[in-house]
Amino acid sequence: MEKVKANVKILRYQPETDKKPHWKTYEVEVEPDATILDVLNEIHWYHDGTLSYRRSCRSAICGSCAMKVNSRNVLACETPMSWFKNKLKIEPLPGLKIIKDLVVDWDDFFAKLERIKPYLIVDKPIPDKEFLQLPEEFEEIREAVTCILCAACTSSCPSLWGNENYHGPAALLKAYRFIFDSRDDGADERIDIINDRNGIWRCHTIFNCMEACPKDIKITEYLSKLKVKAAENSI
Ligand code: FES
Repeated sequence: MEKVKANVKILRYQPETDKKPHWKTYEVEVEPDATILDVLNEIHWYHDGTLSYRRSCRSAICGSCAMKVNSRNVLACETPMSWFKNKLKIEPLPGLKIIKDLVVDWDDFFAKLERIKPYLIVDKPIPDKEFLQLPEEFEEIREAVTCILCAACTSSCPSLWGNENYHGPAALLKAYRFIFDSRDDGADERIDIINDRNGIWRCHTIFNCMEACPKDIKITEYLSKLKVKAAENSI
C-alpha cells in the first residue's frame, strides 16, 4: 500500500530542559490505515527517539494510550489517523500533571478510585462456589464493568478542572458499578463516601465524560442514578 503524508503537531515537554510545554511539528509518511499510535511509533522509532508516550496492549483494553487529539480525548491505539484527515494535533490528557511529553501523572486519578473501595464488600456467608447473579441483575452493571480506567472521561470533565478534589466520573462510575452490584453489601459505606462536598453532587451533567469515553459508556446516566440513590439514602 502506498504511504501517505501526515502532518503531526505534538505538545512536547522535557522536564530536564523545558520551562513549559511547547509545540513541535513532524512530517512523516505512514500507511493510509495507520492509527494515532502507529504515527507516534513512526516518529519515536525513525524521527525523534526522545518522544515519550504510554502504550501497552494496542487493543483498546489497557487504557494506557489515552490522549487528546484534535481537541478530543481518544485511545491512540484504536483511532485511525484518517479520522482527522492526516493532520494531527496531539496533547496529553488535560487536567492531569504532565510528567513528560504525552505521559501524565495518574497518581491522583487512582487515589480517587481507591477512595470509593473498588472491590466487592460482602457481609453474607461466602458460598462454596461463585456468587450467583441473575442476568437481569448483571444487566444493571454490564456497561459500567467495561470501563478500562483510561481517564479519558475524568480528564475531560470541567467540574474537575474547576475543583481538583472532585472524585471525577471514572471513580464515581466505579462506585456505581459496585453499589448497583446485586452481590455487594457495601452500598451504604460507598454512598457516604460519594455524598460529600467533592462527590457526586459536583457532577453538573455536562456530558463531556460520555463524549470522551472510548467504550461508549453512558456515564452521565449512571451518575444520575447514583444521585437518586444518594438522595434516597439521605432521607
Ligand atoms: Fe492499551 Fe491503547 S495501548 S488501550
